[in-house]
Amino acid sequence: MAGQARSEDYVRIFDTTLRDGEQSPGATMTSAEKLEVARQLAVLGIDVMEAGFPAASPDDLEGVRRIAREVGGANGPVIAGLARCWREDIDKAWQGVQDAAKPRIHAFIATSDLHMERKLGMTRAQVLSQVGHMVAHARSLCDDIEFSPEDASRSDRDFMVEVLSLAIKEGATTLNIPDTVGYDMPVEYGDLFRYLMEHTDGADGVIWSAHCHDDLGCATANTLAAIEAGARQVEVTINGIGERAGNTSLEEVVMALHTRPKIYGVASRLNTTELVRTSRLVAHYTGIAVPRNKAIVGENAFAHEAGIHQHGMLRDQRTYEIMTPQTVGLTQSRLVLGKHSGKHALRMRMEELGFELNREELGDAFRRFKQLADQKKDITDADLQALANQEILAPTEIFALSELQISCGRPGMPTATARVVGPNGQEYVSPGVGTGPVDATFRAIDAVVEARNTLLEYNVHSVTEGIDAMGEVTVRIKSPSGGRGKGRVFGGYGADTDVIVASAKAYLAALNRMLAAIGTKYTAGESGPSTVTVSRPRPVEA
Ligand code: KIV
Ligand code: ZN
Repeated sequence: MAGQARSEDYVRIFDTTLRDGEQSPGATMTSAEKLEVARQLAVLGIDVMEAGFPAASPDDLEGVRRIAREVGGANGPVIAGLARCWREDIDKAWQGVQDAAKPRIHAFIATSDLHMERKLGMTRAQVLSQVGHMVAHARSLCDDIEFSPEDASRSDRDFMVEVLSLAIKEGATTLNIPDTVGYDMPVEYGDLFRYLMEHTDGADGVIWSAHCHDDLGCATANTLAAIEAGARQVEVTINGIGERAGNTSLEEVVMALHTRPKIYGVASRLNTTELVRTSRLVAHYTGIAVPRNKAIVGENAFAHEAGIHQHGMLRDQRTYEIMTPQTVGLTQSRLVLGKHSGKHALRMRMEELGFELNREELGDAFRRFKQLADQKKDITDADLQALANQEILAPTEIFALSELQISCGRPGMPTATARVVGPNGQEYVSPGVGTGPVDATFRAIDAVVEARNTLLEYNVHSVTEGIDAMGEVTVRIKSPSGGRGKGRVFGGYGADTDVIVASAKAYLAALNRMLAAIGTKYTAGESGPSTVTVSRPRPVEA
């Protein structure tokens, strides 16, 4: 590695979420939102914050000024403003950052033949001269100057050496080498740094910086290759947002350095426990959702579903995790219960939720859990609570729902046809017509069970989110006050992805409790299973 003067050897984190990140299509934030993100970035402990591009608009200038004043204190980060190598841009950048305790001007100009000819309409000599004059001008305003040869990875190396040597001579203190279009492979990008650091005059006296885009999915690998080659600043964004496929993701680079210290031998100074919080804030304000499987901050980054993995995790987290969730600011790993999970994981999670299921209950809960997992992708804690309650609260089943078919809508007569299995396996099929699908269902069930009661309360709510959520229903019924019923109240609970089915289950659970409590005897169907069609449903007594 070519030497470079560094009082302390660490990787400076230059965050450009508010500049390159905000250039993501659709990521525009209001100035109040930017300020809040800037405050959180300071809590995260970044070294340099590129607050914006002041020449882009008066709003951008104002936004950078505000961040410089409110976040750029003596203990805060360096506040940088971006500028093209034009005098007006540099002056605007200086206006933006000058109130910060540690201001920086970041000047750039393209150095690839393609960009110079086709975009700028300038010759190499003109670009070289512009760099000399503009870096000198910037340095006359500010002590901390960063210079970037845009499209460096497609620029002629020796021309870049000339440009960079001149930038250092005129006062640049950081040299940033952008892979503007995400073209380089890690081996090339690392090699580019070695070449430039070896041939540029004054290379030892400046900080070298990596700036990568993710067009070929190599941004993080390229940035790490640059660090290996000697770069000590990395330009990154939260969640990797940025132009096109995005910039290098801050959290990936920081956690790679943190997790593999022997490979890099150099660390960042970031407070990694703020990573998830910062990621969520940026996703919230930019409206760019973090993919579930995104490294470090994705919802699934510390989630395990496969039974074998869960088993390993329950014994020792290191079996399937190379870093702890706490390091990035999560409280714990998530054992996601889904159709690949085993009974062991279900029991553990149930216990964590406060449900001690005996062997039989667990077996039953597991069977229902697998049925539910076939219907729903994610089984949440609320789903499990619903399942556990069903196990614990379910009375001996005298009548059980077998099938239910509903027809309803307007105009029309809400009609339910229920197939119910009663004592000794006797099957009943009964229709019911009501004011709505639940009323029709309860009437169909009443026609079979023939147990007089009053419906006191009916509650339904969704216990989980999403279109495939579990619906949870609780009902309370009252037995007749005369005879053995004694006017007692019985509750029932049912959960299902179909709320009408959940309602039927809840009602039957309450009826079963009532029948068990008042000692009702059934003689029907003693001869074995056969289907009885109940054709004349009796009216419900209020
Ligand atoms: O990608 C790029 O080249 C840039 C420069 C302005 C640094 O963002
Ligand atoms: Zn960029």
